[in-house]
Amino acid sequence: MSLSGYKKSSVQKQADFFNALGSDYIKTVAKEYAAIYTRTFNAINGHVKGDILDIGSGGVTLFKSCGDHVFYDISPVLLSAHSSSGASSSLSVCGESTSLPFISNSFDTILFHFSIHHFAQETFSKTLDYIQKSIEEAKRVLRPGGKIIIAENTVADVVELVESLLFPVVSKSLEILNYPPVFLFSEKRLASILKAVGCHTHIVCSFKEPSKLLVSPLKNIRLLLNPVTIKVLVAGNV
Ligand SMILES: C[S@@+](CC[C@H](N)C(=O)[O-])C[C@H]1O[C@@H](n2cnc3c(N)ncnc32)[C@H](O)[C@@H]1O
Repeated sequence: MSLSGYKKSSVQKQADFFNALGSDYIKTVAKEYAAIYTRTFNAINGHVKGDILDIGSGGVTLFKSCGDHVFYDISPVLLSAHSSSGASSSLSVCGESTSLPFISNSFDTILFHFSIHHFAQETFSKTLDYIQKSIEEAKRVLRPGGKIIIAENTVADVVELVESLLFPVVSKSLEILNYPPVFLFSEKRLASILKAVGCHTHIVCSFKEPSKLLVSPLKNIRLLLNPVTIKVLVAGNV
C-alpha cells in the first residue's frame, strides 16, 4: 500500500515525540525541572482531592491521591513509566484530551500539568478549538464541586498575539527540527476558556524561571529576558 498521501496529525506528532523521548523525559524532569515542579506541586497540593484525572500525565507521578488516580496520555511509552501514586487504585489510560473515555461526573480533580502547550494543532484557530474541546471534556467528567487545575507556561496577551501571527512559521520551523508544534497561552485566554464552561479561575502560584524556557527545543537556550511566567490556575464552578 502506498503511504504517499499520509500526513501525521499534530496529535500523532506529539505522541511520536514523547514515545521517542521515553525515560529521557522523566530524567530531564528530575534533573532540570525539579525546583520548578516542587513549586507547582506545593501550590497545587492543597487543592487536590478525591479521584484524580491527570491529563497529559507524561510518566511523572506528582501527587499522592487518597482516591482513584487515572493517568491519561497519548504516549503509551510515558504512561508505562508511571509509578504508583499511593492511590487506593491507579490506572493508566491512553487517549487524547478532546475525547475522554469516562462517563460524566467521574472525578473530583482534573490536572493539566504542563500539558496544554502541547495541544497545539496545524493552525492557531484549530489549536483554540482543540483546547476548548479539551476543557469542555474535562468539565464534563468533573463532579459538581470539583476543580480543574492547570500548571502552565503562560505569556503576556501581546506575546500570545504575536505568537498566533507567527504560528505558521514557528510550527514549520519546529517540524523541520523534528519537534511537534507548541503554543503558549496567556493567563487571560486560559481563564476565558474556563469561564466559557462555567468555571471561575484564581491563580494560586506565579513565578518566573529567570533565565531559561521550559519548552523544547528552547530549554537549553539561556535568555536575558524570559517572556514566560509559570502559573498555576485553579478553576471551579462559578
Ligand atoms: C510536557 S509533557 C508534561 C508531562 C507531565 N504532566 C509533566 O508535568 O511533566 C506533555 C504531556 O502531554 C501529553 N499530551 C500531549 N498532547 C496530548 C493530548 N492531546 N491528550 C493527552 N495527552 C497529551 C504528551 O504525551 C506528554 O506526556
